[in-house]
Amino acid sequence: MSYIEVDHVHKEYIRDGKAFTVLNDVSLNFDKGEFICLLGPSGCGKSTLLNLIAGFENCTSGQVRIDGQVVSQPSIKYVTVFQQYGLLPWRTVLGNVELGLESKGVPKENRQAIAEKYIDMVGLTAAKNSHPAELSGGMQQRVSIARAFAVEPEIIFMDEPFAALDALTRMSLQDEVTKLCREQGKTVVFVTHDIDESIVLADRVVILAANPGRLKTIVPITIADRSDRNSEEFLTIRNHIFEEFHMAHEEKIEYYI
Ligand SMILES: Nc1ncnc2c1ncn2[C@@H]1O[C@H](COP(=O)(O)OP(=O)(O)OP(=O)(O)O)[C@@H](O)[C@H]1O
Ligand SMILES: [Mg+2]
Repeated sequence: MSYIEVDHVHKEYIRDGKAFTVLNDVSLNFDKGEFICLLGPSGCGKSTLLNLIAGFENCTSGQVRIDGQVVSQPSIKYVTVFQQYGLLPWRTVLGNVELGLESKGVPKENRQAIAEKYIDMVGLTAAKNSHPAELSGGMQQRVSIARAFAVEPEIIFMDEPFAALDALTRMSLQDEVTKLCREQGKTVVFVTHDIDESIVLADRVVILAANPGRLKTIVPITIADRSDRNSEEFLTIRNHIFEEFHMAHEEKIEYYI
């Protein structure tokens, strides 16, 4: 039994009275502590698949199991980080990170120390009393990452969390997140359509194809040094994924013609 099991998952939406297949017979197995990226063209069903695993949506047929339990609704054991930072504007950085701990029922006297530890981990100690409006996009996303880690979830789901950030901020956050997740042995399911991002972050990249959304292939990332994005092995794996990704695109185009 794998930790996360996506078992013959099929998802349809009804559009204009007709059933529209978003995901067709997707089966995947993820281990505890794995960092998985879901990569694919826009509209191939990445967010839908993430939402099914996280329990925000239900499968039309098939099922998702986590630790052997069928997923039917979101659990407080898992957290999700979205592209929109989801911070409360009237709370400080500290207040926002404490929020998750409040929902988890951590006693008031322990919250601040835990929140401060994770704020420090994302390098925001100097800004802990600032409000979100005073922070850059990259800093705000660091706050939501600190908030996610602070509750010590079993799984972190992320849906294009860096998509709104400039290239340099994005690269430094990718390096930080991969370091944090590896240090802490987190299980992460991370949606992206950025090939380099998937190579920097993932243990395995799950490539999806569109129309209907389905599993194309899985590419294990076995690069020794991920920080050098111009190394021979980085380029080789990028080309390999690009080909698979491109083929997924081609199929989509053919479908429309
Ligand atoms: N609630 C819904 N009702 C109807 N159709 C939906 C719904 N949610 C998603 N879809 C459709 O399902 C398909 C897959 O959507 P999804 O958001 O999962 O794709 P994605 O791969 O995350 O795309 P992107 O990269 O643009 O975020 C799209 O065609 C979308 O229009
Ligand atoms: Mg999406």
